Amino acid sequence: MSIETSTQRLRSVVDTLLDVSSLETGRMHYYTREYDFRAVCRSAIDQIRPKLEERDVTLVERVPDQPLPAMGDPDKLLRAMVHVLDNASKFTPTGGEVAVEVRAEGDDDLSFEVADSGPGVRPEHIARIMEPFYQVDGSVTRDHGGVGLGLAFARRVTEALGGGIEISSPPAGAVAERQLSGTLVELRVSRSPERPEMQSK
Ligand SMILES: Nc1ncnc2c1ncn2[C@@H]1O[C@H](COP(=O)(O)OP(=O)(O)OP(=O)(O)O)[C@@H](O)[C@H]1O
Ligand SMILES: [Mg+2]
Repeated sequence: MSIETSTQRLRSVVDTLLDVSSLETGRMHYYTREYDFRAVCRSAIDQIRPKLEERDVTLVERVPDQPLPAMGDPDKLLRAMVHVLDNASKFTPTGGEVAVEVRAEGDDDLSFEVADSGPGVRPEHIARIMEPFYQVDGSVTRDHGGVGLGLAFARRVTEALGGGIEISSPPAGAVAERQLSGTLVELRVSRSPERPEMQSK
């Protein structure tokens, strides 16, 4: 691993730790403004693309052509999306597949779905992996790196933005027309959440 890559990883772990600890103490601050949900999805996908290519994982994506204007904190949302994509990437073996679909549902809901062809998560673990520091298998996870905060962060951010996170394994439905065998993580947010800074705890 290059020094640059190690530094980037360390930075993202530190950022996540700061975010989660401030969320735990109720001191998470959301900088609410108008943003384009579609642009945030695109930049999350662009961040993960090289990692997938490096490992020969096929990426299938379906993103709408039109902008999807919303209110919220696009920086935190971007980090939440990158965490979910990072999981799909690291748990999917070489030669596997990751599918991403972005959708507007009804007038208010926006959805970002990521499915993978990795090992999946057993039903008894699904609720727990959204808790801070919970990892299914310490030994496997050491292989895969990380500290167990990505999904906890993604859950709190999406809840603060008037939505939430849903996980199914095997995936409850097709994503970008691909029915994969591993895990499906859906992040949902509202286009017009009520005062996100008040919902952090
Ligand atoms: N796509 C996935 N496929 C299989 N298991 C997963 C997947 N996503 C998450 N998990 C399980 O959930 C655990 C928690 O995920 P989470 O993203 O919160 O932490 P992490 O990836 O282990 O570390 P971090 O995100 O802090 O770098 C993982 O360690 C893994 O056991
Ligand atoms: Mg993770």
